[in-house]
Amino acid sequence: MPRILMVTAEAAPFAKTGGLADVLGALPPALARLGEEVGVVMPRYDVASIPESQRVWHAMPLVVGPNRYTAAIDQVTVGGARYWFVDCPPLYNRGQVYGNFADNHVRFAALNLAAIGIARHMFRPDVFHGHDWPAGLLPVYLRENLRNDPTFFGAKCVTTIHNLGYQGNFPASCISDTGLNRALFHSEGLEFWGRLSFMKAGIVWSDAITTVSPTYAREIQTQEYGFSMDGLLRARSSRVHGILNGADYGEWNPETDAFAAHHFSSKNLAGKRAAKKALLAEVGLPANPDRPLLAVISRFAEQKGLDLIAAIVKDLLEEDTAVVILGEGDAQFEEMFRELARDFPETFAVRVGYDNGLAHRIEAGADLFLMPSRYEPCGLSQIYSLRYGTVPIVRATGGLEDTVDETTGFKFHEHTPAALLHSIRKAITEWKDRKTWLQRMRRGMAKDFSWAASAVEYQKLYRSL
Ligand code: ADP
Ligand code: GLC
Repeated sequence: MPRILMVTAEAAPFAKTGGLADVLGALPPALARLGEEVGVVMPRYDVASIPESQRVWHAMPLVVGPNRYTAAIDQVTVGGARYWFVDCPPLYNRGQVYGNFADNHVRFAALNLAAIGIARHMFRPDVFHGHDWPAGLLPVYLRENLRNDPTFFGAKCVTTIHNLGYQGNFPASCISDTGLNRALFHSEGLEFWGRLSFMKAGIVWSDAITTVSPTYAREIQTQEYGFSMDGLLRARSSRVHGILNGADYGEWNPETDAFAAHHFSSKNLAGKRAAKKALLAEVGLPANPDRPLLAVISRFAEQKGLDLIAAIVKDLLEEDTAVVILGEGDAQFEEMFRELARDFPETFAVRVGYDNGLAHRIEAGADLFLMPSRYEPCGLSQIYSLRYGTVPIVRATGGLEDTVDETTGFKFHEHTPAALLHSIRKAITEWKDRKTWLQRMRRGMAKDFSWAASAVEYQKLYRSL
C-alpha cells in the first residue's frame, strides 16, 4: 500500500474558503477507507477551528532561506486519515486564511518544508501529493535541494490543480527567501513571465498532474482556459489527468442535514416544501411558495460569472421569481448585490459573508441553483444541489459540463446574459409543470457522485507511478 502525504492550504472542517477544503476534508478519509495510509499537512491558522488535537512535535526547526522559525506540529485523526497542523504564529496568525501579505511566498514555502520535516521524521510517504499553488514548491525542494538525500529516493510527486486562475506568482526577487537555487529561475523552471510561479513549479517538477474534472483537464490545455500555462500543460499532456471530485454525502444529505430543520428524500418531498418556507422566512423574502426560488452560493470572484446575473436583473424582476444570494469576495459584487436587496427586497435576499449553515439551508430550500461560471474546474455546489433536488442551471464548462446533463439540469454554452436568461426562462416554465419538474428533480437526486469512485481513480494513479 503506498503511503500518501498531502499538502494543502485548507481542509474542511478546520479551515475553509471554498471547494478545495471540501475535497481535502473528504478525499483523505475516502482513501483511508480503501486501505491507503494518508496524512495531510496544513497550517494551523489562528482562524482555524481545530478540536482536541495532540501535540506530536513541540519544536520543529524551520529554515526558509534566510529566515528561521520554530513550529509545533499538532495531530488530529479523521476517518482514518491523519491531519497535521503546522503551528507557527508569525506565519499563520493573520486573522484570515489568505490575504494580501507581502510574505505569502514565505508562508507557503514554509508549509512545504514543514511537510518534508514530517515526511523525514514521522511519516515516510511513497507519494507526495500537493494541492494548488500553496504546495507548488514541494517537488522542487524534493528534487533539487534534496536530490542527494537518499531518504526520499523513489518518492513520487503529484500536483492537483483545483484552479489554474490562482497561480502564486511573486516578484523574481522572492526566490532568495525560499532557499531555492537562483539557477532554477529560467523559462523551463520557476520563471513565468518574469515572475516566480509556485503553480508552474508544481507542474514542471511533478511526476503527475491532476485536475478536478475531465473537461477541465482538456480546457486548461487551451488558450482560452490556460491562463498562459496551456503551452506548458500541452507539453506535459501525457502526465495530465482529470479526476472528478466527489461529494461528501455525510455532510450534504437532505435526509440527515445537521443544519436544516426539515429533512426530505426523493420519496418524500414534503420536507423540501417546509425547507423552502423556512428559508424564505429566514432570509426575509415574502412567504410565497408559488414562485420559484433561485439560489446562488458563491465566492464573489470573476470566475463565477456573477456579472451575467447582474446583467439580467431587470428581466428577473419581470419573471415573478425570488432570488437568494450568499457569498463574499470582490467588493464590487458585494456592493452590487447589497444594493439589489435594498432596492428590490421582495425579490432579492442577499447575505454577504461566509455561513456554512445557511449554505446548507439554501441548498435544501431553493428550487433552482445558478452557476453561470466563466470557468469551473469542478464545482461542488451543483453536485450538492442535485442531491437536494435543487435543479442546477449551469454554464457548460469544466466540472459543470461533467456533472449536470440536460435531464437533471439546464445548461447553456455561451457566456452571455442572454444565454443565462434563456435557460432560466426555460427552467421557470418547466417548474410550473409539477409532474415534469418532479421527474427532473428525482433524476438529479438519484445521481451518485460519492467519493468512493474518485478515490479509486487516485489510488490507480498513485500505483501507476
Ligand atoms: P469554489 O471552490 O470555486 O469556491 P465549489 O463549488 O467547488 O467552488 O465549492 C464551494 C464550496 O464553498 C461549497 O461547499 C459552498 O457551499 C461553499 N461556499 C461558498 N461560498 C460560501 C459562503 N459564502 N458561505 C458558506 N459556504 C460557502
Ligand atoms: C476550486 C474550483 C472548484 C473546485 C474546487 C475543489 O476552488 O474553483 O471548481 O470544485 O477547487 O476542487
